[in-house]
Amino acid sequence: VETITIATVRGTSHIMVGERWQDLLRHIPARRPVVITDVNVDALYPLNVICEDVITIGSGERLQTLDTIRDVYQRLMALEVDRSCFLVGIGGGVVCDITGFVATTFLRGLRFGFIATTLLAQVDAAIGGKNGVNMDGFKNMIGTFNPPEFVICDTNLLQTLPVREVQNGFAEIIKHAAIADAALFAFLEQHHQSARALDDEVIAKLVVDSVRIKSSIVTADETENGLRRILNFGHTLGHALERTAGLAHGEAVSRGMAAAAALSVRRGMLADNERQRLQTLLEAFQLPVALETGDAEKICRALRQDKKREGRRIHFVWLEKIGKAVVKPIALRELEELIHDISRRASS
Ligand SMILES: NC(=O)c1ccc[n+]([C@@H]2O[C@H](COP(=O)([O-])OP(=O)(O)OC[C@H]3O[C@@H](n4cnc5c(N)ncnc54)[C@H](O)[C@@H]3O)[C@@H](O)[C@H]2O)c1
Repeated sequence: VETITIATVRGTSHIMVGERWQDLLRHIPARRPVVITDVNVDALYPLNVICEDVITIGSGERLQTLDTIRDVYQRLMALEVDRSCFLVGIGGGVVCDITGFVATTFLRGLRFGFIATTLLAQVDAAIGGKNGVNMDGFKNMIGTFNPPEFVICDTNLLQTLPVREVQNGFAEIIKHAAIADAALFAFLEQHHQSARALDDEVIAKLVVDSVRIKSSIVTADETENGLRRILNFGHTLGHALERTAGLAHGEAVSRGMAAAAALSVRRGMLADNERQRLQTLLEAFQLPVALETGDAEKICRALRQDKKREGRRIHFVWLEKIGKAVVKPIALRELEELIHDISRRASS
């Protein structure tokens, strides 16, 4: 088991990579555990061996709403949960976000931890203390910053994960390497086949390295005023595509990263051979990179509606080289022109 500790002003999280989910109780001594999970995880794993009280929600991001939160509050009340209880979210990013939000607000705050069961949750969603729900179709409009006491990343759980979900995790691992770790990027270039086959040693290294990268960024900027924004590499465009083109998160972020790299080249910030390396790696992981006809217009429309934009400018994440990203604001209009420009070049 490799433990990475993230200490911030809001609390300390221990991320345990390689710990078994069955050993959960070791980490919550003398507390009544209450588990929140989703229907798929509940059907696959006998969680009742570790906990009597299991609250199950449906699956999918569609459920990441205040209605689900209210439903969970009611079930906690029915179980007579008090402040001596310990909440454990066992699932992917949706379960972790909901558990973190509920634990922060129910009875003004309960202790909580996660068992992250998807690759995306292990390398990204469960790490960093952000939790939230969507509102009227807009992502993460409501939420808090509050880190879990621990995150168990049991890589054995990934064996039951559908391929599309595994791909979502790889997109975030490649993002971490691209923005902050050239050595990890080179490792991915060498080991993409064993990674895709979920080789245990390779996956454990990828999870540990990703957690380290994300945690060092989060430690430096917990509430996203500056550096943490580099984690949005590929996401400004990716979210727009996810919402409008109905793509999986990983596919959308992959296209978003390829496009953000192309924009960086157009602005003279990135050498074209570095962009090509990123594209080749994404393709090696069978992730899509091309913008399709109509994508540029969809992205621009979504950017204009982006609730998190600051006035007419957007904090955009640019790539300077493999392993280094920077955040620089750009006028929305200029960004739109660049997007149309790269999409015209790609299709000519
Ligand atoms: N808080 C953050 O910092 C942060 C960061 C990134 C993403 N997120 C959130 O995370 C969510 C996405 O997370 P996700 O990709 O884990 O999605 P998810 O939680 O919906 O899980 C994906 C699917 O896999 C199933 N599943 C989970 N574990 C499984 C297992 N071991 N075997 C088989 N099936 C399993 C789930 O039931 C679900 O159908 C998004 O809603 C996003 O908003 C949050």
